[in-house]
Amino acid sequence: MLSGKNVLVGISGGIAAYKMANCVSMLVKLNADVHVVMTENATKIITPEAFEVLTKNKVYTDVFSESFEKSNVVTHIALAEQADAVLVAPATANIIGKIAGGIADDMLSTVILPVDVKRVPVLIAPSMNVNMFMNPIVQDNIEKLRGYGYTIIEPASGHLACGYDGKGKLPPEDVLTDAVVKAISHEHDLEGTRVLITAGPTEESIDPVRIITNHSSGKMGYALADAALNRGAEVVLVSGPTALKKPYGARVIGVVTAGDMYEAVMSEEENSDIIIMAAAVADYTPAHVADQKIKKQDDDMSISLTRTKDILRSVGEIKRDDQVLCGFSMETENLLENSAGKLRSKNADMICANSIVQPGAGYKVDTNIITIITGEDTLELPLMSKYDAANRILDKVLELKGKKND
Ligand code: CTP
Repeated sequence: MLSGKNVLVGISGGIAAYKMANCVSMLVKLNADVHVVMTENATKIITPEAFEVLTKNKVYTDVFSESFEKSNVVTHIALAEQADAVLVAPATANIIGKIAGGIADDMLSTVILPVDVKRVPVLIAPSMNVNMFMNPIVQDNIEKLRGYGYTIIEPASGHLACGYDGKGKLPPEDVLTDAVVKAISHEHDLEGTRVLITAGPTEESIDPVRIITNHSSGKMGYALADAALNRGAEVVLVSGPTALKKPYGARVIGVVTAGDMYEAVMSEEENSDIIIMAAAVADYTPAHVADQKIKKQDDDMSISLTRTKDILRSVGEIKRDDQVLCGFSMETENLLENSAGKLRSKNADMICANSIVQPGAGYKVDTNIITIITGEDTLELPLMSKYDAANRILDKVLELKGKKND
């Protein structure tokens, strides 16, 4: 996801500096070219050599050991110039204060100052003792940085290395990595757009022990949320029960039943520009939910089921002309015919048809084979990752949105 991207990682002297080995390794695995700059204090917690091994690049700690590497530009300027994103993590109160005050008195602060935050995202992850973090001076500095366009990655709460409990923990390494991916992996062509996505299965209770559900893992809907976030969208994800990690930056509304999902979608649809329904919603729910566990009998049994509301159809009935509504269609036979039927009957602008019988497509796996059907054309996508498929779907959604806005 970060191929061809240059990420400058600035590490200051918080105890969480040791965690940055994992974060840097994750960025390298996403194919970023990572350059690390450390404060002198950070080198007392983890050695620069660790990062040199991980990044295969020289780690800079001292302005006076700089070299003229790139077209005779001094290193701190060259590092700033070549960066597509800067991540400062952990960011101590000291480095935050220095950036906010325009001070450049060591290699890290000297590298950050020439970076143009309007062009290059600079992500700052404060990490310190809770009382230091809550100090109004530190808070003012953080606000000041926000005002200038720096992105603050909120610290997590929990047990801090200093022995205190509270806010000030460096967020987990995958959160830091996701923030970088979100900032630079894709052009922000969905900036200013609100995208509502449904994902995962629903669960309908039969009794306190049993449920009716389906095999959906939620992976396609979550991939859509990740892709939309990485393209700058504001994302609301209405999710049935899944084991997946919350997409960084999304507002997630957790639901269980088809009825819950209907309520959540209906309360959000009006404020959404794009609505994508990737959830596998139960079409039927038990007519009665037993209070107590149903005991088995000697003879067969049947359960009376009633229809749930069709959420896609309900949104299709009320959608505005400027909204794009995209549904999914999961079939085992007559894929294109049945899916085109759903496009019309549910008044969607687009249906992503996927067959669960083709290898590499459908539930649980990380790949999919999708055919995008609109009122005008049909686009058959080959086997690809769900993330790549999500981006192709969003490309088509944007094309339709553009036509509607014309
Ligand atoms: N859908 C929905 N509400 C339901 C059932 C389905 O919003 N109660 C949505 C799904 O999220 C998907 C689309 O409708 O975007 C098609 O779902 P699918 O299960 O393929 O088809 P159904 O309409 O349920 O029809 P059938 O099960 O008969 O194929």
